[in-house]
Amino acid sequence: MTKNSARNLFFIGTFACMVIFFALSIHTMSTIPEFTHSENLTDDVVAGKKVWEKYDCIGCHTLIGEGSYYAPELKDVYSRKGPAFLRAFLKDPVKIWYGTAEAAAGWRKMPNFHLPEEEIDHLIAFFEWGDKIDTHNWPPRPQKGVAQATGSAATVGAITGEAAMDLQVQQGEALVQEKACTACHKIKGTGAPVGPDLTGVTKRLDVEIVRKRLRDPKSVNPDSIMPNFGFSDAEIEVIIAYLKTL
Ligand code: HEC
Ligand code: HEC
Repeated sequence: MTKNSARNLFFIGTFACMVIFFALSIHTMSTIPEFTHSENLTDDVVAGKKVWEKYDCIGCHTLIGEGSYYAPELKDVYSRKGPAFLRAFLKDPVKIWYGTAEAAAGWRKMPNFHLPEEEIDHLIAFFEWGDKIDTHNWPPRPQKGVAQATGSAATVGAITGEAAMDLQVQQGEALVQEKACTACHKIKGTGAPVGPDLTGVTKRLDVEIVRKRLRDPKSVNPDSIMPNFGFSDAEIEVIIAYLKTL
């Protein structure tokens, strides 16, 4: 390569990369309103972001992966937990998460900021908006329970008898942990007393009612604050298999 062609290669290469860089930047910038649904940015959502900053929530939490790793990621907390849980939790985190101050002793805890009702409304609006941002599944989350339970029909079909039953129970337990049912229910002594104790629930209730309740809590009680987790039939069956062991 002559000196001249090396210089040309350098200039053309640099220029081409610059063009690609600017084109991609413009493309990204222009798609932000679409991915973030900026049309839904109401005054409440904006006020919620200000409350979020006022209490330095990011000092413990991450949002879309940014922030501190002390406490859970909150990008999808609205769809994971639902507004009723958020309201109850933000009012009194320790009571909802642990039940009592004694049960919380020695554990990592969220402080009670004694948030006024209005600030809680704004935070919930902010979380609802953030939940719908299309981040192409960022940040990644371990999907252990779901992945196992979705594969369960096929896997369980191949294994029979007691081994299959054990597997179902394990998958059900993983799902119950992943969805943090104990944020509202007591299970064998741990959890918060927002809903009924789930220990022995399949002995108290007809299994068909439990099934209906897991498919759509409002079908059993129209005022239910229990979130609809959107479980598949296979997921519901493994949860019931687990609940039967309690
Ligand atoms: C000192 C650290 C700290 C600060 C500051 C903090 N949190 Fe938390 N937060 C936690 C911890 C720890 C948890 C996990 C539950 C627990 O152990 O109490 C949590 C849990 C949560 C949850 C439930 C998460 C889930 O996945 O169920 C929400 C919602 C939440 N925090 C919102 C907020 C908001 C809003 C603020 C600001 C007003 C805030 N947090 C400030 C520590 C903190
Ligand atoms: C936000 C709180 C909340 C969460 C989270 C929650 N539940 Fe519930 N659940 C309730 C409440 C409250 C009731 C009873 C009142 C109602 O809503 O009808 C209930 C009722 C139930 C019942 C019927 C129990 C009875 O004795 O009537 C079952 C079974 C149940 N939940 C299972 C689960 C499972 C499994 C999970 C996790 C996948 C879960 N719940 C998560 C609040 C919650």
